[in-house]
Amino acid sequence: MGLHDLSDLPYPWDSIAGITATARSHPGGLIDLSMGTPVDPTPDVVRRALEAASNAPGYPMTAGTPALRQAVAAWFARRRDVPGLDPAAVLPTIGSKELVGLLPALLHLGPGDVVVHPGVAYPTYVAGIRAAGATPLATDDVADWAGRDDVKMVWVNSPGNPTGRVLDVEALRVVVDAAHAIGAVVVSDECYAELAWEAPWADDGVPSILDPRVCGGSHEGLLAAYSLSKQSSIAGYRAAFLAGDGALIADLTQTRKHLGLIVPAPVQAAMTAALSDDEHVAAQRETYGARRRALAAAVVDAGLVIDGSEAGLYLWVAAPDGRSGLRIAEWFAERGILTAPGHLYGDDTHTRVALTSTDAQIADAVSRLTEA
Ligand SMILES: Cc1ncc(COP(=O)(O)O)c(C=O)c1O
Repeated sequence: MGLHDLSDLPYPWDSIAGITATARSHPGGLIDLSMGTPVDPTPDVVRRALEAASNAPGYPMTAGTPALRQAVAAWFARRRDVPGLDPAAVLPTIGSKELVGLLPALLHLGPGDVVVHPGVAYPTYVAGIRAAGATPLATDDVADWAGRDDVKMVWVNSPGNPTGRVLDVEALRVVVDAAHAIGAVVVSDECYAELAWEAPWADDGVPSILDPRVCGGSHEGLLAAYSLSKQSSIAGYRAAFLAGDGALIADLTQTRKHLGLIVPAPVQAAMTAALSDDEHVAAQRETYGARRRALAAAVVDAGLVIDGSEAGLYLWVAAPDGRSGLRIAEWFAERGILTAPGHLYGDDTHTRVALTSTDAQIADAVSRLTEA
């Protein structure tokens, strides 16, 4: 059985041609706040490591170098309150999008299996579930799937894209307990964990699914996915990893070895350097924080409402008059600002405004919104 046909699943950004044309026709030019694609230069500490590892005649290790696996375990202990992670329970991935897309199939799921994903979500969860031939179930309510023996996997995404909402320890524990009861695997996509803005997350950190307060110290049936794309401005490197249940990681590593799903050696070296340096992450966070403050104030001054958005790289924007997300996105587009209407994520009442643009473009967006 091959990957299932996705030809009837529209690629999200292909479906906003109308507002893209409107935004593009603005005399001041287009400001693209529709995608979370980093624009700041890759930090020197990361680039130097990539360059130093550029002599790479041999095949890299699918499982990751010992130095990289060690750096991931140390990062979990230092940054995520997850002590004692076994470096063998780590697997680098070629960015996290391929992982999100392939994981249901790599976990041997298929027709008849149900995979839960967040009610309003990054579209690749559904693409990957459908590619495996499994059935997606969009819900944030554990009661919708607790006790069901056809549910084999549960995606959680905290901080969430597009909503910016964070799941606390208790909410994660409820998911873990319900999944354990039916033998389902919980996979937690935590790629915005270093970008928390509001209390308590900004000071205390965003809880990981592997946090002992969530899982009692056992990682059985649990996987955390993390990406360096945003925290280190290296989306172009394709650098991410998975960690957690050692048996699942061993099985996934074996399959990925056979298939050649390997992170290039220079990227593994760059990841090791990035995960060992907290300074550039703090600086990047400051940069996004300043953009967020400026944009958020302008959005609110323009009479719009920001929901969620406690963490992550987006403002999740609604209108007090209940206008649809597409109408709000059109309003932005008339000012030359392209945003991502919520229907791309399964919500008709918001548009998503990304913080990933240069300071100059954000300042331009703020002045266009202020004129509004
Ligand atoms: C929730 C979520 N998961 C995964 C990704 C993929 O990131 P990458 O493939 O750059 O690691 C993104 C990118 O925006 C995302 O928002």
